[in-house]
Amino acid sequence: TEQTFIMIKPDGVQRGLVGKIIQRFEDRGFKLVALKFTQPTKQLLEKHYADLKSKPFFPGLVEYMSSGPVVPMVWEGLNAVAMGRKMLGATKPAESEPGTIRGDFCLDVGRNLCHGSDGVEAAKGEIALWFSPDELVSWADHSAAQVYEKPPVVAAA
Ligand code: GTP
Ligand code: MG
Repeated sequence: TEQTFIMIKPDGVQRGLVGKIIQRFEDRGFKLVALKFTQPTKQLLEKHYADLKSKPFFPGLVEYMSSGPVVPMVWEGLNAVAMGRKMLGATKPAESEPGTIRGDFCLDVGRNLCHGSDGVEAAKGEIALWFSPDELVSWADHSAAQVYEKPPVVAAA
């Protein structure tokens, strides 16, 4: 099944929204595969946001993202990448629908709480950038039998 990389940004941590954001992914039926709590280096963030290097907001983005701890996570499930983006809501909070994380909890594009991979290939790259293979946990999620018509088969750890 598909995996996506979701990260709670420093404003999400500072505002005490870690639990609420994780709750939404659990509630939807996604399976947590990896999670850590870490203050990222600028060097790591420059790699993570390499495609935005030429944007005028890039230096401020790296500054903000390195300003405090973040919560990088891997969530797995049906259409995890596209669904993850939908749950985050539009990049600009003015355009994020109510009911989405950004649409419910933030106002400013430069403080938009969370990151989500924008494609399956991007997700693979981001997961490899933020986690080593041994940090990805393979486990049998018992709720899968109710969440899916055809539950994914989990390889024995
Ligand atoms: P991420 O999930 O964080 O990657 O956001 P996104 O994919 O919805 O947007 P994008 O990758 O284009 O931009 C990455 C991040 O840069 C955004 O989430 C914002 O925090 C920030 N950003 C994007 N556009 C602007 C902008 O116009 N001004 C500022 N200050 N920040 C921006
Ligand atoms: Mg992006």
